[in-house]
Order: sequence, then structure tokens, then C-alpha cells
Amino acid sequence: MGLLKDCINNKETNTIPIWFMRQAGRYLPEFRDIRSKNIDFIKLCLNPDLSKEITLQPLKRFNIDAAIIFSDILLIPYALGQKLKFEKNFGPKLGDLDIERIVNITDQEILEKLEPVYKLVNTTSNDLLLNNKDLIGFIGAPWTLMVYMLNKKSPKRDFNLEIFNNINKNKLLEKIIQTQKLHIKKQVENGASIIQIFDSWAGLLDDKYFSEYIYNPTKELVKYVKSLGVEVICFPRGIKNYKEYSDKIEPNAISIDYEVDPNIITNQINIPIQGGLDPKCLLLDEKEMLNNAKKYLEIFKNRQYIFNLGHGMLPETNPNNVKLLVDFVKSYK
Ligand code: CP3
Repeated sequence: MGLLKDCINNKETNTIPIWFMRQAGRYLPEFRDIRSKNIDFIKLCLNPDLSKEITLQPLKRFNIDAAIIFSDILLIPYALGQKLKFEKNFGPKLGDLDIERIVNITDQEILEKLEPVYKLVNTTSNDLLLNNKDLIGFIGAPWTLMVYMLNKKSPKRDFNLEIFNNINKNKLLEKIIQTQKLHIKKQVENGASIIQIFDSWAGLLDDKYFSEYIYNPTKELVKYVKSLGVEVICFPRGIKNYKEYSDKIEPNAISIDYEVDPNIITNQINIPIQGGLDPKCLLLDEKEMLNNAKKYLEIFKNRQYIFNLGHGMLPETNPNNVKLLVDFVKSYK
């Protein structure tokens, strides 16, 4: 396996492992080309040949150490029978949530819908381009999925915690956890060598609900990934207390967002750290971008560190800048 796995397992690596969240996406003209001919985003995710090609696109351009499967966290609500579409300039739009119906959906029905995703994982993991590299599978954390399923759109647009009132949250949460276990298992069986858990909206939750919606469910899934013999990285974007999160959840590595102070976190946390650099830094000129990257490399010099961003690559990023950044990190001593 690749440098990421080595780094996570405390092995020495000759260079710093590097990959990017949203490394396959709209900033790449070759992605936009496929996307323009495939208007239905879900159908594209469920087309194993095209989604494999998209997964491998960034590896053909950059000297990065991992591929992340081209898919989406919202395929889980989709597989559970909640209507889902992606609208241009709006983002995801979900249909009404019928919890009673969702809890009765069988594993068989879910697997039938997601079969193309597992085929994608399988064929990609066998591709020569992935020789000595990791293939990252992923899920959305239960909290973030609940936010989308109940809010029915990105909370970036609007969000009110009151949507959590008067619904059978425990039943929904339980069904999400069970479905995520199934989804993790199938990704691992088909060749995912690392699982990342995206909790993109962890920062929205009040501290007093953290155990119920974030710590307990995520811990259960982290334990489950580990039981399959695979490493798990958690990305709880926007939370205040990364140390408490790491201590409670015990992932194999923790991915920090761009608001985390690297100087502070490096003294608080012992497990491998990933990420941090503000994706906006890739919109700066070369010198400024590399200076910002250097800050992270210097601070994390004497510990296990995986280079990545503090959130996904922005669509307006110039791929030439990505190449400059990768080559800089790879030659950093
Ligand atoms: O990282 C990768 O390259 C792998 C693919 C990947 C996608 N989505 C493809 C995608 C991954 C890992 C995700 C995860 C995901 N999806 C998250 C967690 C990470 C994060 O960004 O916080 C979330 C919250 C989603 C839900 C989602 N999917 C939203 C809110 C949107 C619309 C907003 C946007 O950025 O366009 C999507 C669509 C989506 N998922 C696109 C891609 C490449 C853009 C599709 C397009 O319009 O071409």
C-alpha cells in the first residue's frame, strides 16, 4: 500500500504524503468535459466507467499518493429512497423524508442501488495507476447526513435546529449507522485501503448534543472500520475542540480544517494530522501559496503529517497551481 498508510502507521516515509479533498472536480477541465455531457450528477456517480475515469484524472496530472473514489455522501439518502437531485447553482435538493419508510428499506435494496459504486471501487483498486498508492473510500458522518436529510438542502443556504424537533431521530440515526456500516464494508471488500469520514457540518452542533449525535455514532463507525483492518481518517469540519474529538473517537488520523491553528494542535494531539491549508491559498500567486504551504510543513515537520487542504478544492483553482504545490511538498526536506 501507499505512503498514506505508512504515515498513518508511524512508518518513515521519504516524502510527505499528499492528496486533496475534492481532487477530482470542477477545477479540472477534463472533469468539466465529462460533466457537461452528463447532466445528471447521480447517474454520473453510478456510472462505474466514467466515475473511475474521473477518480483517476488527478493522478494522471499530479504526483499525489492517493485516489479518492468519485462518489458522494448523499448517495446514502438516495439509496434509502429519499429523492435527490443536484441543481446547477443551487447544490443538492432532497425530497421529503419519510422515516417510517426509510427504516424498512432492506440491505438488499440498498446494495442493489449502490452496486455501481462498489464496481467502481473494485476496478479502480485494480488499476495500475494505483500501484503503491492508496484508494480512499468515504462516508458522510451520521450527523452531517442527518442535517442534509432533514434540511433537504445545504445548510449553507439556511438551517434551523428546530427541524430536529418532533421526529423520530433515534430511529433515523440508527438506520443511518447501519447503512453506513454496510457501505463501509462493501467499499473495503472491493479494495478501499483507507476510509475517510466527512463530518462537514459538525461545526453547526451545540456542545451539549455532541455525545448523542457526533461522538457516539462516529465512534461506533470508527470502531467498525478498524475491525475490518483498515485505517480511518476523520474530518469534523468547524468544531472547536479537536483534541476532545480525537480523544473520544480515536481515529487513526485526524483531518483539520483551515481555522485550526497548526501551532496549537501540534502540541495537543498525538495521532497523525492531515490537512489544514486554506483552499483559498491556491488562488494566490505562486510565492504566496507556497509560503502558506510551507508554514504547515515547518510546524508539522517532526511528526506524522499528511499534506491536504482544510476543506475541498475550490472550482476556481488553477490546476497549474496544484501541480506547483504538489511538486513543492514532494521536494520538501
Ligand atoms: O473528493 C473527491 O474528489 C471525491 C468526490 C467527492 C464528491 N463529494 C464529489 C462531488 C466527495 C468526497 C464528496 C463528499 C461530499 N459531498 C461532502 C463532504 C465533503 C465536503 O465538501 O464538505 C458533502 C457535504 C457533499 C454533498 C455535496 N455534493 C454538495 C453540498 C454538493 C454541491 C456543492 C458543490 O460543491 O458543488 C455536491 C456535489 C458534488 N460532489 C460535486 C462533486 C465533484 C460537484 C458536482 C458538479 O456540480 O459538478
